Amino acid sequence: MVKLSVKGFDIHSGCLDIAAQRAVLTAVRGVVADAPFFRPDTPYGKPMSVRMSAAGQYGWYSDKKGYRYVRNHPSGRPWPAIPEPVLDIWRDVTGLARMPECCLINYYGAEAKMGLHQDRDEASMEWPVVSVSLGDDGLFRMGNVTRGGKTESHWLRSGDVVVMGGDARLAYHGVDRIRSGSSTLLPKGGRLNLTLRVVT
Ligand code: SIN
Ligand code: MN
Repeated sequence: MVKLSVKGFDIHSGCLDIAAQRAVLTAVRGVVADAPFFRPDTPYGKPMSVRMSAAGQYGWYSDKKGYRYVRNHPSGRPWPAIPEPVLDIWRDVTGLARMPECCLINYYGAEAKMGLHQDRDEASMEWPVVSVSLGDDGLFRMGNVTRGGKTESHWLRSGDVVVMGGDARLAYHGVDRIRSGSSTLLPKGGRLNLTLRVVT
């Protein structure tokens, strides 16, 4: 494992070995079997290119009413619990006793991307957001706490974990593109990203 810091984002490169990646993937498949992926609309009415699901007391949701956390999947059922192997990653990289209340699951197909944004729908910015990457490489762009200014990009690979805390907690970030076919972890290709958040 190699740890690097880019603009305050702590990147744990190679944090999960292949066995750990497979364990997380199996757990995520269980979540998605109960809470299937859906494609949220942005508040501007355009569907997002990533597909989403979630685990925990809250899932992140978006539609014409805006961005927010909700207690149920669009099916009306509560989100499944955050799997233990995922909580283990949170414990390992943050050392916190406080556990996350949302594990947002993003799936990027070959053409999916995520524009630069801040994570600021949570009640407190005191807690970090932890991101786990699985599958194809994703080009992660890191910016500043205000829009604009210089950005830096880093290819996140399967098994990489990023901690967004401190000054990076409110920094703009996004995914410009994925490198389709760069990993064999997901049999149908694509990239999974989990973000763990304390919501309340
Ligand atoms: C996000 O910001 O919610 C996702 C980041 C990523 O896919 O790496
Ligand atoms: Mn984000």
